[in-house]
Amino acid sequence: MAKERLKSPRARLFVALDLPGSVRVEIVEWGYEALADPALRPVAPESLHVTLAFLGYLPEREIEPLARIVRAAAGPAPSIELGDPVPRPQGGRPRLFALPAASVGTIALQARLAQKLVAARLYKPEKRPFWPHVTVARVRREERGSKRPALVSRPPGTLPKSLLQSFDGVRIVLYLSQIKPQGAQYTPLAQVELPAGGWQ
Ligand code: 2AM
Repeated sequence: MAKERLKSPRARLFVALDLPGSVRVEIVEWGYEALADPALRPVAPESLHVTLAFLGYLPEREIEPLARIVRAAAGPAPSIELGDPVPRPQGGRPRLFALPAASVGTIALQARLAQKLVAARLYKPEKRPFWPHVTVARVRREERGSKRPALVSRPPGTLPKSLLQSFDGVRIVLYLSQIKPQGAQYTPLAQVELPAGGWQ
């Protein structure tokens, strides 16, 4: 019983920068053709984002302090330029395809947010440098039970010109991630809108 009491419920959490709805729609429309390979599982429109900090499983009591940090992280909306899809990892069979999201403002925003999360002991920064990107498709497994990704015979092609135009990130969101058989489902728990007119 003592053990039961010690085990506080946990939630899988991350903080992300949301893209404008129009950009999500355009990515989805591009994906109908570009992500049509049967080995690919395109990311749902509402799940397209730039991850700023993946927090992992934290006790649910940390959600409120996290929400306060997220709300306090508002600043001018960063300008973002998407690039053509790239596989990750680069050697061997890719597990996902992502659009690089070049953005000096997002890198600055992520650094400020990460610093606050670390100071609150809610985040262990990753060793690799922050790489802003939007995951657009994950690769299915080769077969049930196997960890090996399936072979993608038709990798995603380039983006249309309209998606190469820069746009502003719209809000910072604390998301709850729930793993379901049909894929992860993300629920916003706290958010702050970013005023347009930017950071560069
Ligand atoms: P991804 O877009 O690069 O896959 C929710 O799972 C979000 O957190 C995803 O967008 C994912 O980023 C990111 N994420 C999941 N697991 C992670 C991990 N172990 N390290 C860093 N980011 C992770």
